[in-house]
Amino acid sequence: MQRRVALVLATAVAFATLAGTTHAASPVFDVNRDFYPYYPSLIKWDKSTLDFTPPSVCQGCHEKQYKEWTGSVHQLAFQDPVYQGELNKAVKAVGHEISRQCEGCHSPAGVVTGEIKGPGNAGLSEMALAGVSCDICHSVSGTTHWQTPSHEPENGSFILAPGAETKDGPRFVKRGPFTPSAECGGGFHDCVESPLHLQADLCASCHQVYHYDAHFPLEATYLEWKHGPYAQRGILCQDCHMVETQAFLKAADQFAKPQRGEYRHFFNGANYLLSYLAAGAARKAGNQEQAESSMKQYAMAVDRLKSAASVEIIPNYHKGELTELQVRVKNLRAGHNLPTSLTNVRQMWLEIVAKDEAGRTILNSGQAGPDGSLPANARLFNSDGIGEDFHFAVDPWVVTSFSRHDTIPPRGYKDVHYGVPPLKGVKKLNVEVKLRYRQADQKLAEALLKAVPKDIDLKKTYGLTAVPPLPVVDMAVQKVAVTPRQPGR
Ligand code: HEC
Ligand code: HEC
Ligand code: HEC
Ligand code: HEC
Ligand code: HEC
Repeated sequence: MQRRVALVLATAVAFATLAGTTHAASPVFDVNRDFYPYYPSLIKWDKSTLDFTPPSVCQGCHEKQYKEWTGSVHQLAFQDPVYQGELNKAVKAVGHEISRQCEGCHSPAGVVTGEIKGPGNAGLSEMALAGVSCDICHSVSGTTHWQTPSHEPENGSFILAPGAETKDGPRFVKRGPFTPSAECGGGFHDCVESPLHLQADLCASCHQVYHYDAHFPLEATYLEWKHGPYAQRGILCQDCHMVETQAFLKAADQFAKPQRGEYRHFFNGANYLLSYLAAGAARKAGNQEQAESSMKQYAMAVDRLKSAASVEIIPNYHKGELTELQVRVKNLRAGHNLPTSLTNVRQMWLEIVAKDEAGRTILNSGQAGPDGSLPANARLFNSDGIGEDFHFAVDPWVVTSFSRHDTIPPRGYKDVHYGVPPLKGVKKLNVEVKLRYRQADQKLAEALLKAVPKDIDLKKTYGLTAVPPLPVVDMAVQKVAVTPRQPGR
């Protein structure tokens, strides 16, 4: 017995030593801190004497791309008040180091230059505020996906090289999809043809988010895509998120790649709320044109959500009597799981109401209350995060596993079964099912917006005095009349 205790102790000491040298919570997923100087962000900076270039400079020659990108979720990634609220909480909870991890994806330039010292916008340069801007993506010269702890893309595992030293002195180098012409760069930058920009690997390192220390995959959009049918047939993130709605529908339905001229810089996904807030801010600032363009972004996100899924009601009978309603939810057009990314924050759920011909409610599930809260019986498709203690948690520095991870794979479906009580004397059952979506639980959104750093004035910038009920999008709706007795029996 005593020998066993000694052995356990020795093992514990060995592990502690290992953890001490690597600063990783796991001896399997070892981190090389010399290779990754910005850890817990895995960005690398291939430094030259040239600085990053803010988007207003690129705008001078690339007005079209600039207009599309402005108001996108990428442009807003750092200033996003929801992000700033969470960042503020993170730094208070675990100290400054974690903010390098967050900003590595939300404002990479601000991390490598060391300009961003904490939450808040005050005093920051245009480049730091610009989030995921032109000179981030077009300065990516490579990735270190194979050298990361998981040997997969994660936590910003790309290399930034905005400039290079040449025999003619330092030169800006921008990387893009084309074989450059002689005029490329207009004398301002050199051009390099980059196959990486035509691969999902460019997006991957920011769209795989791991816990900053425990290394748990909190968001896994890239791997969901990689292990699904779209990746196998060459339909990339860009083919759905860098095109207008029509081209996206073709890519999703027919696996048809968009033409080169069809690519746009909107990067719209599901986050209609952020576009909505941005439109409000633009209106308050008197920029009507930007307000309109943000509302266009809003409409595109809603369109994408409305085309992502379908719902179907299947009545099931036992001995001729209706006993259950089966609802099938199909992921028709999301290239990854539905929902994806922040699956423990986003809410996608089924609302079902069945009434008899007199309008009496027979079955009812998933209706939000007046305060925006969902009833306990609502069928959600999402995950629940938990901490080391198995207690429910939302904050990304606490969540180290999921108690439940229940999303729908690409081109897959899930069935939900609702039992029907005996229907004496009922001739017809009118059933309506909705698949509904919102960015977060009402209380959570309120808590995050309350936590924004002091220099962000929600009233002055966004016109918000209180958090209104979060808007809900109906992704799919189906109405049918069902007979309580099996037809033909
Ligand atoms: C590996 C890159 C990466 C890291 C690291 C990262 N994020 Fe994010 N974050 C993302 C992506 C991508 C999204 C968008 C996901 C989506 O829309 O579902 C996002 C979304 C968010 C959102 C939701 C914003 C909204 O408007 O709904 C918040 C809040 C957030 N991140 C906070 C943080 C904080 C705080 C940290 C650090 C503890 C962090 N993130 C670290 C990539 C990252
Ligand atoms: C999230 C990464 C990302 C950001 C941010 C980004 N781009 Fe791009 N850009 C791309 C990708 C990927 C392509 C290639 C699209 C394709 O397949 O043709 C591209 C293509 C281009 C092209 C070639 C022509 C075209 O439109 O396809 C130009 C020019 C360009 N981007 C400029 C910009 C400018 C200017 C900004 C900022 C206002 C910007 N980009 C922001 C990823 C990005
Ligand atoms: C002085 C004008 C000028 C400025 C400023 C400028 N560019 Fe360009 N850029 C050009 C021209 C001209 C081309 C070639 C024609 C085209 O694609 O529009 C080009 C092409 C590109 C391409 C396509 C390269 C390829 O081979 O696929 C990218 C990407 C790009 N620029 C990014 C940027 C970014 C990012 C900035 C800001 C950091 C920027 N440019 C600033 C003039 C400029
Ligand atoms: C440097 C990191 C980074 C890179 C590279 C990157 N993204 Fe993002 N992306 C983010 C962050 C951070 C957010 C979320 C910002 C927020 O919500 O505050 C985001 C948001 C998005 C969204 C919007 C999600 C929503 O909820 O609506 C889409 C779509 C998207 N990215 C697609 C792409 C595509 C396609 C590429 C590759 C061409 C790419 N991203 C490359 C960091 C990145
Ligand atoms: C076949 C089309 C398709 C492909 C390919 C695709 N997506 Fe999406 N994506 C969608 C649709 C539709 C939605 C909206 C429904 C949803 O939230 O999943 C979406 C939503 C998103 C969101 C927002 C999630 C949220 O709830 O806020 C992010 C982030 C995103 N995609 C990133 C990516 C990245 C990164 C890739 C590549 C690894 C990718 N997508 C590939 C169609 C696609």
